[in-house]
Amino acid sequence: MIKTIGVLTSGGDAPGMNAAVRAVARTAISRGIKVYGIRRGYNGLINGDIIEMNERSVSDILQKGGTCLYTARCPEFRTAEGVDKAVAKCKEIGLEGIVVIGGDGSFRGAADLSAKGILCIGLPGTIDNDIACTEYTIGYDTAMNTALEMVDKIRDTAQSHDRCSVVEVMGRNAGYIAVNTGIACGATEIITKEMPYDLDEVAKKMLETRKTGKQHFIIVVAEGVGHSQEIAQTLQEKTGIEARATILGHVQRGGSPTLRDRVIASLMGNYAVDLLTQGIGNRVVGMQNNKIVDFDIQEALSMQKPYETHTHEVAREIAI
Ligand code: ADP
Ligand code: F6P
Repeated sequence: MIKTIGVLTSGGDAPGMNAAVRAVARTAISRGIKVYGIRRGYNGLINGDIIEMNERSVSDILQKGGTCLYTARCPEFRTAEGVDKAVAKCKEIGLEGIVVIGGDGSFRGAADLSAKGILCIGLPGTIDNDIACTEYTIGYDTAMNTALEMVDKIRDTAQSHDRCSVVEVMGRNAGYIAVNTGIACGATEIITKEMPYDLDEVAKKMLETRKTGKQHFIIVVAEGVGHSQEIAQTLQEKTGIEARATILGHVQRGGSPTLRDRVIASLMGNYAVDLLTQGIGNRVVGMQNNKIVDFDIQEALSMQKPYETHTHEVAREIAI
C-alpha cells in the first residue's frame, strides 16, 4: 500500500485547481496516506520546495481561483538531469506517487517520472479544454462563463454606439472557448482556426442583417487566429460600421471556480488517489460521456480531439 504522495500544479493556472488539490490532499489523509504539496510545478520537485499537508492546509481554498501551490514552467525538467534531480528528491522524502494537475506538457513530464518508477497521475487542468482524452478540463467552465460575462458587458457599449465589437478569447490554438462563448452570447460570427471563414462573407452578413434592423454586432475570435485588431479594421472598411477590438486576456484565467469546475475537480482529485492506492501510475484522468475514466499517458497524448463543428454551424445558422 502506498504511504506517501505529492501533488503539484504545472503550466498555466486554471480555476478549480485548488479544488483538485484539496480533493487529493483530503482523500489521501482520510486513507492514512501522507501528502506533500510541491510548489511551482516541477521546479518545486527539483529544488525541494515541498511542504507536508494536513487536512487544514487545504481549508478555505475551494472557492478560490489560481493555485495555492503556485505554478510554473520548468525548462530544467525537460532535461534528463532535471528528471534525475526530481527522482532523487522523491527518493529522499519517500514520495512514491504524484498527482500532476496541468496540461499536455505537464503530462509529458509525468510520463518521464513514471518511467523512473514514481507513480504519476495527470489531472487535466487548463481553461483551453485542449486535452484530447477528455471532454472536459478543470477551469474550462469558469473561463467560458467569465468570457460570456465580459462579452455581455461589451455588448452594452456596442449597442449604445451601433458598433461592431470584435472580442478575442483565449484557448491557445483551440477554438473551444470561442465557439461556446460565441453561441452563448449570440455572436454574429465566430472565427476559429478549425472552421474556414471569409471576412467578405462576414461583412455581407452584417450589412444584410442591418437591413432587417440589426444595429450592433459581436464577432468572437479565438486567440489562435489572432489579428483581432486587423479583423476589426477590415470589417469596418468593408461595411462602414465602426468597429472596436477587445482582447479579453488573463481575466479569463482568474476568479472563483463555477460549481461544475469544483465538482469535476473534486471527483477527479479523489479518483487520482484511488488509482495511486491501487499502485497504478502513468495514467491521465479524463471525462468521457460524463463518466470519469483514465488512460495510459502516452495513449492520451496521441489522441485527437474533434472540434465542436455542429455547435459552430448552429451558431452561424441562428445568428441572422
Ligand atoms: P501545460 O502543462 O499547460 O501544457 P507546458 O507545456 O508549459 O504547460 O508544460 C508545463 C511544464 O511541464 C513545463 O514547464 C515542463 O516542466 C514540463 N514539460 C513540458 N513538456 C515536457 C516534455 N516534453 N518533457 C518533460 N517535461 C515537460
Ligand atoms: O493555457 C492557458 C492559456 O491561458 C492559453 O489560453 C493562453 O494561450 C496561454 O495560457 C497564455 O499563457 P501565459 O499566461 O504564459 O501568457
